[in-house]
Amino acid sequence: MTELICVEGLSKQFGPHHAVLDVNFNVKQGEILGLLGPNGAGKSTTIKMLTCYLRPTSGSATICGHSILDNTHLVRSSMGYMPETSPLYGEMMVKEFLTFMGEMRNLKKEKLQEAIERVVNLTNLQDVFYQTLETLSKGYKKRVLLAQALIHDPKILILDEPTDGLDPNQKGEVRSMIRKLSEEKAILISTHILEELEALCTDVLIMSKGKIQFKGTTNELMQKCSERKLNLQDYFRCLTLTQ
Ligand SMILES: Nc1ncnc2c1ncn2[C@@H]1O[C@H](COP(=O)(O)OP(=O)(O)OP(=O)(O)O)[C@@H](O)[C@H]1O
Ligand SMILES: [Mg+2]
Repeated sequence: MTELICVEGLSKQFGPHHAVLDVNFNVKQGEILGLLGPNGAGKSTTIKMLTCYLRPTSGSATICGHSILDNTHLVRSSMGYMPETSPLYGEMMVKEFLTFMGEMRNLKKEKLQEAIERVVNLTNLQDVFYQTLETLSKGYKKRVLLAQALIHDPKILILDEPTDGLDPNQKGEVRSMIRKLSEEKAILISTHILEELEALCTDVLIMSKGKIQFKGTTNELMQKCSERKLNLQDYFRCLTLTQ
């Protein structure tokens, strides 16, 4: 399988402070990479550089072969981004919001209708299609955010805390949606939830103070834990507190 996200020596400095320092990783189609780290580790800064919101101080990355440094437009059109919280327009109906987001992606007429139908079915939004966003439960709001990220059928998905704050049933549902989507896509998930790794991610990147502290498959991480006779939480503390 081809690498869809390739990150090489990515760094971001704010004044004298290294928010992200020499980060390298790849994500292939079929993989779900979990990006973990304590507050201030550099996760959001990494995601902001990959989504072309921030320009790196040094290093680079390609998204579906397009450089984040000089192909901003193609990078953005190859990826879907689900933010952690919703800058949603409360008075819009789900139908109106998805139409608006599709139009922003340059979808028109039949293509737009097809895309809305596809994402509504994928994320099970049929029952709330004519409901305003401010009246939706947290779980449904997350689904709407996932639906808008999928509207242009991107090869790459970047999801910020996709299951945070959901009840166990909704967590399970959103995870199985993501798992199904990963067959055709490369997915990067930022999360604080350690159990999300085992439940969903094929690969793991643990960051602390801007640097990578662990990179490997989820199985390799679990193996390291058992070698050290630590549970995941204690190993995470070991990796991120002692730096
Ligand atoms: N625009 C900015 N100007 C100055 N410093 C910044 C800026 N953005 C982020 N930082 C700093 O960079 C570091 C990494 O921040 P970042 O937001 O990437 O962390 P994070 O891993 O996403 O944390 P959290 O889990 O709290 O969301 C922090 O020390 C933060 O204060
Ligand atoms: Mg963050």
